[in-house]
Amino acid sequence: MARPGALALGLAWLFGAVGIGAPRSAAAGQPGRPIPGGSNVLFIVVDDLRPALGSYGDMLVRSPNIDQLASRSVVFQNAFAQQAVCAPSRVSFLTGRRPDTTRLYDFNSYWRVHAGNYSTLPQYFKENGYITMSVGKVFHPGISSNHSDDYPYSWTIPAFHPSSEKYENTKVCRGKDGTLHANLICPVNVTEMPQGTLPDIQSTEEAIRLLNIVKESDSKFFLAVGYHKPHIPFRYPQEFLKLYPLENITLAPDPDVPKRLPSVAYNPWTDIRHREDVEALNISFPYGPVPKDFQRKIRQSYFASVSYLDMLVGKLLNALDDAGLSHNTIVVFTADHGWSLGEHGEWAKYSNFDIATRVPLMFYVPGITAPPFRPGQKLFPFIDPFAQVPRPAPAGKPKEMVELVSLFPTLADLAGLKVPPACPQPSFHVPLCTDGRSMLPYFPPIGGGPESNSGEGGEEEKSSSSAVAFSQYPRPGDVPEWDSDLPALQDIRVMGYSIRTADYRCTLWLGFNPSTFTANLSDIHAGELYFAASDPDQDHNMYNRVGSGSLKQKLCKVLEH
Ligand SMILES: *[C@@H]1O[C@H](CO)[C@@H](O)[C@H](O)[C@H]1NC(C)=O
Ligand SMILES: *[C@@H]1O[C@H](CO)[C@@H](O)[C@H](O)[C@H]1NC(C)=O
Ligand SMILES: *[C@@H]1O[C@H](CO)[C@@H](O)[C@H](O)[C@H]1NC(C)=O
Ligand SMILES: *[C@@H]1O[C@H](CO)[C@@H](O)[C@H](O)[C@H]1NC(C)=O
Ligand SMILES: *[C@@H]1O[C@H](CO)[C@@H](O)[C@H](O)[C@H]1NC(C)=O
Ligand SMILES: *[C@@H]1O[C@H](CO)[C@@H](O)[C@H](O)[C@H]1NC(C)=O
Repeated sequence: MARPGALALGLAWLFGAVGIGAPRSAAAGQPGRPIPGGSNVLFIVVDDLRPALGSYGDMLVRSPNIDQLASRSVVFQNAFAQQAVCAPSRVSFLTGRRPDTTRLYDFNSYWRVHAGNYSTLPQYFKENGYITMSVGKVFHPGISSNHSDDYPYSWTIPAFHPSSEKYENTKVCRGKDGTLHANLICPVNVTEMPQGTLPDIQSTEEAIRLLNIVKESDSKFFLAVGYHKPHIPFRYPQEFLKLYPLENITLAPDPDVPKRLPSVAYNPWTDIRHREDVEALNISFPYGPVPKDFQRKIRQSYFASVSYLDMLVGKLLNALDDAGLSHNTIVVFTADHGWSLGEHGEWAKYSNFDIATRVPLMFYVPGITAPPFRPGQKLFPFIDPFAQVPRPAPAGKPKEMVELVSLFPTLADLAGLKVPPACPQPSFHVPLCTDGRSMLPYFPPIGGGPESNSGEGGEEEKSSSSAVAFSQYPRPGDVPEWDSDLPALQDIRVMGYSIRTADYRCTLWLGFNPSTFTANLSDIHAGELYFAASDPDQDHNMYNRVGSGSLKQKLCKVLEH
C-alpha cells in the first residue's frame, strides 16, 4: 500500500496548517455524560446489502458483530433507498435529495454541473468544523463524483481507495480445473491474491489507522467507510464458506418470475451473466432461469460475503472502542440498496421491489440508544463469526417507513447541527436544503435503550404512522432489453415511481422524457400493487384487479413527496 504514508503526512500537514493538532486533554468527552459540542460520526455504508442479518431476523446468516452493534442501536425495520443502484442512491442520500432533484439515474453526470451545486452530508459536517474522511466506496467513483469522490468539497483529505480493488474483475478465481477465471463465485485463499489482501481488508486497516490519528485531535471527525462486499463478484476469504454448507442453503421462497409482473418491471440481471462461470451456464435471456444448484451457490456466497463483512465491521468497531471513541461517536450502519437472491427470478438490484430497495439502517448514539458508558467498558468487543453464539433477538422497532434521503437531516440533528431546511419546489438553485426529514421523532424516548425495541405492538404504530417511502427506477422501454438494468439517461423512456406504506407498495410505470426530466402522469405503461399483509414477498400484482376507480388513485400517489 503506497497511499497510507502519504495520507498520514497529509493529515499531519493539515492539522499543522490549520492549527487543530493539539492533543486532546484527558478531560474531554467524559464517559456517560452528554457529549460537549456534539459527537464524532462513523458512517458505515455497505454495497448491495439487503437486511440479511441476524438482527433483522435472518435465521441463516451469521453476523454477530453487526448484531452486537444493533443491540446498542435504534434499528429501523423499514428503511428504503430512493433508487436501487449504486451511484444514484449514493448521490441521493449524500446530498439529501431525491434522484429527480440530482437528475442522476445512471452513472454519467456530476450533480454540481448537471443539476445544482448541492452541499453534501460530509461537506456540511466539514463546514461545521469536522475533519471529514472517506475510505473505500462511499461516493460511487467516476464521473458521478467528478473522479475525486467530490473532494475537496466533501472531504478534508483525498478519499482512500484500496489498491487491491483493481483485481476485482480480473482472473483471480480458481476453477475446478485449477486455472484462474473472472467468476461470479470466487472464494479465495487471501495469501494467494495479488498483493496478498482484499479491498475491504485494506479499507478496514486504513479506517482504523485514521481513527488512531484523529483521536489525538481536538476536532471532531466524520469518517465514512464504504465496504465493497457483498457486491459481486463474490470474492471473499474461502473459510467463510464453512459457515454455510450447501445442503443448508434453500432457494428463494419465490424463485419464479411472477405471472402478473408487467414486463417493464422486470430487470434481466445482465451483470452476473458476464461472469465466466455464469456465461458457461448459457442461461436464456431475459428470464432465465438460473439452474437450481447454481442458485444455491449464489446464495451461499452472498451469505458468506456478509459474514466476511461482519468480521471486518467487528474489527473496525473493536478499534473504535480501543481508541476510546465509543462514548463520543455516533455510528450509522446502512447500505446503498438491497439485492434479489432469486426472488421473482431475479439476481440483482435494479427494481422497485422491497428486496432491491429495502436496506438495513441502524444508529448507535452514545448514551441514548445504549446505556451510559462506563469507564473501561468495551461496547463493541470483537466476536469471532466462527464461534457459536446465541442468535440475536430480532430488533422490533421503529417500524415506520423511512428513506435514505433522510440520512443527511437525521445525522445533522443527532450531532446537534442545524437541520437543513426542507427543499422548496423546484430547488435546483438552493445549495443547502433536503428532500428528507429527520428521523429523530421515531427514536424511542431517550434512556429507553435497546430493551424497548423488543415489543411486538405493531398494530397501534401502524395506524398511527403516516410515514411513507418513495423509490423510483428507469427503463429504456416496456420489454426487457440488454440495458434495462441500467439505461443511460438519454435512453430512458419509462420511469417506475413507487410508494411504500405500512400496508402496500404501489408502482406506476410512467412515460418519461429524458430531455425535460418529466414524467407524464396520463401515460401509464403499467402498474403494480402489492398488499403487505397478504403478500409480503410481492408476488401477486393486484393493480389490474382493483379496478380503475378512486381506491387505486388514493393508494398510488406515487409522486406526492
Ligand atoms: C459550489 O459550491 C461550493 C461550496 O459548496 C463552492 O465552493 C463553489 O464555488 C460552488 N461552485 C459554483 C460553480 O457555484
Ligand atoms: C471536476 O474536476 C475537475 C478536474 O479536477 C476540475 O477542474 C473541476 O473544477 C471539477 N468540477 C467542479 C464542479 O468542481
Ligand atoms: C493459502 O495459500 C498459501 C500460499 O500458497 C498456502 O501456504 C496455504 O496453505 C493456503 N491455505 C489454504 C487453506 O489452502
Ligand atoms: C445445517 O442443517 C442441519 C440440519 O438442519 C443443522 O443441524 C446444522 O446445524 C446446519 N448447519 C449450519 C452450519 O447451519
Ligand atoms: C445455449 O442455449 C441455446 C438455446 O437456449 C442453444 O441454442 C445453444 O446451442 C446453447 N449453447 C451452448 C454452448 O450450449
Ligand atoms: C402524455 O401522455 C398522453 C397519453 O399518452 C398523451 O396524449 C400526451 O400527449 C402526453 N403529454 C405529453 C406532454 O407528452
